[in-house]
Amino acid sequence: MKKVFASSRLPGDALSRLAEHCELDTWESDSPVPPAVLRDRLQACEGLLCLLTNRIDADLVAACTRLRFVSSMSVGVDHVDLDALTRRGIPLGNTPGVLVDTTADLTLALMLAAARRIPEADRFVREGRWDPAAPWHPNMFVGRDLAGATLGIVGLGAIGQAVARRAAGFGMHLLGWNRSPREVRGVQVLAFNELLAESDFLSVNVALTPDTRNLLGRDAIARMKPGAVLVNTARGGIVDEQALAEALVAGRLFAAGVDVFGREPVEPDNPLLGLSNVVLAPHIGSASQRTRERMAALAVDNLVAALNGDPMPQCVNPEVYGSL
Ligand code: GLV
Repeated sequence: MKKVFASSRLPGDALSRLAEHCELDTWESDSPVPPAVLRDRLQACEGLLCLLTNRIDADLVAACTRLRFVSSMSVGVDHVDLDALTRRGIPLGNTPGVLVDTTADLTLALMLAAARRIPEADRFVREGRWDPAAPWHPNMFVGRDLAGATLGIVGLGAIGQAVARRAAGFGMHLLGWNRSPREVRGVQVLAFNELLAESDFLSVNVALTPDTRNLLGRDAIARMKPGAVLVNTARGGIVDEQALAEALVAGRLFAAGVDVFGREPVEPDNPLLGLSNVVLAPHIGSASQRTRERMAALAVDNLVAALNGDPMPQCVNPEVYGSL
């Protein structure tokens, strides 16, 4: 029987289903498996089920000579050296589709929370700063409306399109930009710099690749419309956090909602941590019970297919299957 290493326990019955098809070795701790242990445990394995917290780099791929297939319980695969796998003919599975609505929901939640200053207002009430001498005032916690505002969507893939559908319901005008030309009904596609200049809200929904790393760098942030709100539920490396923090401190941008960071967990000196006009979350875009169960199920479907000698239903590098 082939052997698979799962770098985490998974929600639902996904792992018990997987165990019917292979000899399963599971990392039982909630802390990520240390790289050296991962390498060691993989020596005996044909398959790997990993999370986005596991770095699957070229050295690891080279060291794990038995490895034949990898499945990541994530849509993003920037933690994996895809070329190294492809060169060895190893398919990489991921979990697109099932997390689209949940991630788009979080994007809108962060847009609303940042625009309407909800965490700031929450702290104000909890900390007893709601003064009986000033119970309500026309200028108290004023924010920005979504209705009538222009939303620029960076990346018109499935999540970007789901954000567009939701934002249309809020009465927003929709602009978009995509790396490759793409038409989306109701979304006016613009050149990147035009999108930056026109958008009252900017939502980052593009995958992290060498092309998109630092896409929202210092120059791009400087081109954003004054008073705009930036929301990132994609990947940290896409947005320059220092430049974003400076724009927020200077009041050039109104607010930001950030679910993903260049370094996760954030380091205590992350410049965004001290800013009251930033809403922060710890990479929870896909974090609903139903979606996490679906992601686990799809990650296991990919492995079961590979164990049976079939192509993975969701494969990032299907070229490894040749003319199959
Ligand atoms: C989450 O960030 C994912 O890539 O699934």
